[in-house]
Amino acid sequence: MNKEPAGRGERHAWLRLLVERVNPGVIAEFGCGTGAVLETLHASFPQSTIIGVDKSEERLREVVHKRLARVIPILSDISQRSFMPGSFDTILFVGSLHEVFSCLGKENVERSLEMGYRVLRSGGVALIQDFLKPGGKKAQLTCRNKGVEERFLRFVREFRGRKVKAERMEGGFLVDIADGVEFISKYRSSTEEDWEEEMAETHFFFTQDEYKDVAEQIGFSVEETRGLTKSPEWWSEVSRDLVFEPKSAYRWVHLVLRKS
Ligand SMILES: C[S@@+](CC[C@H](N)C(=O)[O-])C[C@H]1O[C@@H](n2cnc3c(N)ncnc32)[C@H](O)[C@@H]1O
Repeated sequence: MNKEPAGRGERHAWLRLLVERVNPGVIAEFGCGTGAVLETLHASFPQSTIIGVDKSEERLREVVHKRLARVIPILSDISQRSFMPGSFDTILFVGSLHEVFSCLGKENVERSLEMGYRVLRSGGVALIQDFLKPGGKKAQLTCRNKGVEERFLRFVREFRGRKVKAERMEGGFLVDIADGVEFISKYRSSTEEDWEEEMAETHFFFTQDEYKDVAEQIGFSVEETRGLTKSPEWWSEVSRDLVFEPKSAYRWVHLVLRKS
């Protein structure tokens, strides 16, 4: 589960980007969690039926408690085939594919997107927002206090997503940019249990080209790709703890795919 420091303005703006590209009708969100995106869809598309799919019964129970009249929660694994072909006008994956990658591997990200392609009607749209892995260049990370530095060294030892290499240099550490943003996305885990969970989960899993290649191999045409950056307020909170450049390396992808 992604527990990056709370974003303020950007979540709303990112949801608006999704709403702008939805084809109303029958809409499914794969990996809906407790229903934040479902609430926006429900309010924005009063004529639509909205299916929220998640593997967590606990989270779906919260969706049920929201009492959204046209939202149907379904307990299912999104890498499996649970729906009839051509069922949906729009499908969304918002912050769910990095979890599929972390728990089930790359091939199941592909299977989830294949499942999505299959259940879309011709002309239907698939919307993806998730972490965007930056290119492989190095960056300097400077921790502003001992506590953050200890967290970073623990991240280097314990992160299981890939081997992290950090070279000590004057004023900080030299790291792969992808590892730097991965650390920033999880260093504020508030409990030991959260930290353990984060060490098993990879947030920044696909580059823009990897997202596009997988989508095109499945048969989607890519209509739009954008990198979404965090707000200045978010960065000013992070900057109290550490210095990292370039900040533009910390992005989410916004992908609009079409089934022709
Ligand atoms: C970070 S949450 C995002 C929730 C929601 N989309 C949002 O943006 O608020 C990711 C969700 O994906 C779900 N998920 C992860 N892997 C899944 C899988 N294989 N099948 C179904 N749901 C999955 C998790 O249970 C979790 O609720």
